[in-house]
Amino acid sequence: MRVFSGIQPSGNLHLGNYLGAIVNFVKLQNTKQCIYCVVDLHSITVWQDPENLKRNIHEITAGFIASGLDPSKSIIFNQSSVQEHAELSWLLNCVARVGWLNRMTQFKEKAGKNKEKMSVGLYTYPILMAADILAYKATHVPVGDDQKQHIELARDIAQKFNIDFHDRILEITNEEEFFVLPEPQITGPVTRVMSLRDGQKKMSSSELSDMTRINLLDNADQISNKIKKAKTDSAPIPEKMSEINNRYELMNLLSIYAGIVGQSHEEVLNVFSGKQFSYLKDNLTELLVQNICPIGNEMKKIINEKEYLEKTLKEGAEKARVIAIPVLAETKKIIGLA
Ligand code: AMP
Ligand code: TRP
Repeated sequence: MRVFSGIQPSGNLHLGNYLGAIVNFVKLQNTKQCIYCVVDLHSITVWQDPENLKRNIHEITAGFIASGLDPSKSIIFNQSSVQEHAELSWLLNCVARVGWLNRMTQFKEKAGKNKEKMSVGLYTYPILMAADILAYKATHVPVGDDQKQHIELARDIAQKFNIDFHDRILEITNEEEFFVLPEPQITGPVTRVMSLRDGQKKMSSSELSDMTRINLLDNADQISNKIKKAKTDSAPIPEKMSEINNRYELMNLLSIYAGIVGQSHEEVLNVFSGKQFSYLKDNLTELLVQNICPIGNEMKKIINEKEYLEKTLKEGAEKARVIAIPVLAETKKIIGLA
């Protein structure tokens, strides 16, 4: 069993990244071999200011460590320092089908009406993601709900490779299959944190307004202000989950609360049913300040320890390459390139 996941260094680490992904990363590191990657090659599919990119890579790395990832237990590195990702990605480009990529909803959402003006990288990005996972033959991929379709694509690519090259794989490796089909791990009380201003949009670092998200680096005043101004409705907080229906903003605040305390939605609803929204918001603010600010403060400290971060990433990359180099070499052999 091997775990792989990645986060893009493209701006602020936010509560969606934390609850949807990082909390699970930390849980898994005690029981499984875990590889966590700062996916810088993914981030440049949209424009990144070269002056900031290094700092953003350090920021995610610091966020990992401040949230509880331990570089002596998990392999932590940045994608561009392990060249095998890019090379395997090309090989898999020749396995994946155009029709498969055309179904990817994230590309459609990100490109909108500007499809023709997007980078080709943004379009082929799920293939690079498949390469990230398959280079380590990872069995489990903890992610938020939005990445499910990309992992299904990685499975399709792995399966097609295994079928297309079946006889070569058998001959060279003595196995029936070469790539492992990775399982998405989308778990926990909150797999999709929504925007504080629109309960039907996911919380995202690319959203222009900072009021839509809680960043791990926000201070207590910022958190308090954002929760105070978070969108709600005017109906009372109901008793049962079944009565919440389409009240997306209420659902989101309850989910965030449940995610942080590690309780079910029902348990959280029991505490707040019949109460004013202000009571829920005050409690949620306190909870976030208690749980998120210490992580942010730790991050701020670690971000300035540049040598330590560089060393951590370098050592992580060396450990990652030990796994990825032979997988790439065998892939090339199977294809007939080596
Ligand atoms: P990204 O920031 O797009 O690189 O996402 C990194 C990880 O955070 C992925 O596993 C995403 O699925 C997860 N993630 C991002 N935004 C959210 C969100 N709003 N809710 C839950 N998970 C999220
Ligand atoms: N595409 C993911 C995101 O935007 C990040 C990512 C890149 C990833 N490679 C990965 C996640 C491999 C899991 C496994 O959130």
